[in-house]
Amino acid sequence: METIGKILITEDEIADAVARMGREISADYDGKELLLVGILKGAFLTMADLARQITVPVEFDFMAVSSYGDATKSSGVVRILKDLDQEISNRHVVIVEDIVDTGLTLHYLLENLRVRQPASIEIAALLVKEGIQQIPIDVKYRGFDIPPDFVVGYGLDYTGLFRNLPYVSVLDPDNLPV
Ligand code: PRP
Repeated sequence: METIGKILITEDEIADAVARMGREISADYDGKELLLVGILKGAFLTMADLARQITVPVEFDFMAVSSYGDATKSSGVVRILKDLDQEISNRHVVIVEDIVDTGLTLHYLLENLRVRQPASIEIAALLVKEGIQQIPIDVKYRGFDIPPDFVVGYGLDYTGLFRNLPYVSVLDPDNLPV
């Protein structure tokens, strides 16, 4: 299959990072039960692969969120399209994301979920864009710090496509695929 864009992180590098994140989480939650909360849609691949690297008992839930369009994305106004199925009070929660960009989605989610009084809440994100978080977000489990380029693959899309690429690549904004 033709390579899309310029590969930034290979399939093997992703696998290594996800395995490391899984080891870190398994060590930190030793003796506890964990609830992984995947943020749809982008997190579906990170969630699936990270889950298989975690050795403590783990349950799963998902949220789907949407920003109110591009213009208001920077305002941090987020709409919940699908809420959690279960209560999280007294649960140890790890939110799983594919990417932290401005940080506004996670800032909103943390505020929203902390009100529900989990025992603890942390973030696992495969990618963190460097230098552009509008609000500092403490990403405890992180795969890669990346430049603020337009990236696709491994859950990340361009016009709905390329989420299934097994690698992460950079698209040239002046030469986007049709
Ligand atoms: C992406 C990503 C995060 C968010 C990060 O989701 O999965 O949820 O953007 O951006 P931020 O840090 O600037 O808030 P997106 O809204 O593209 O939806 P998707 O996962 O369904 O593609």
